[in-house]
Amino acid sequence: MNLEEHAQTLETQGHVVIDHFLSATELKSMIDDYERLKRVGHFKKASIGKGNEHQLNEKIRNDETHWLEPAALTASQKMLWNKLEAFKQVLNQHFFLGLWTLEGHYAYYPAGGKYDAHLDRFSNDDARTISMVLYLNQNWNPDNGGELRIHHQNQEAPPIDIKPLGGRLVCFFSADVLHEVLPAKKERMSFAGWWKRRSGENDLF
Ligand code: OGA
Ligand code: MN
Repeated sequence: MNLEEHAQTLETQGHVVIDHFLSATELKSMIDDYERLKRVGHFKKASIGKGNEHQLNEKIRNDETHWLEPAALTASQKMLWNKLEAFKQVLNQHFFLGLWTLEGHYAYYPAGGKYDAHLDRFSNDDARTISMVLYLNQNWNPDNGGELRIHHQNQEAPPIDIKPLGGRLVCFFSADVLHEVLPAKKERMSFAGWWKRRSGENDLF
């Protein structure tokens, strides 16, 4: 996988789709990790916003999440962290973004789940810089819906719909890429992560 080419695509398109970011074996180990945590009840109804803006709003999103604990990663999570770290180094060399820490959660969308159009950067915290979504759905049927829809800044261009196929990683700029999760007919599994910059850094970008 040529990460430099993917960084280039991210620059020109504002987003990049990387198929087979995980090998079949890596995908399987992440799914096992996810399913174990789901089974033991570690997923909680997701919320939106941060700090004072924090709220639970099932009209906007109705997924459940489990935040990964960077200081206590399981072996599978560590493997993912290392791969995203390698990508971060390429992105920092390419964009001089000063990406620094990773935060992320597993997400579970039940059948009928969705997440309305939003930006990932909070209005009261601008640290989130690169958004990443990794899909954990094996044998996803194209009729199941659940696409990630990316809107162009130029609203006249048609949006892009990306299927949540297992092992696929989608990256985009957190500050300005409006996106949504279309309703899925089947349960939908993913990891969503954000590279954050040190706050106050790169304010000109
Ligand atoms: C999110 C998000 C997209 C997806 O969690 O903020 O936009 O395809 N997820 O799951
Ligand atoms: Mn999002």
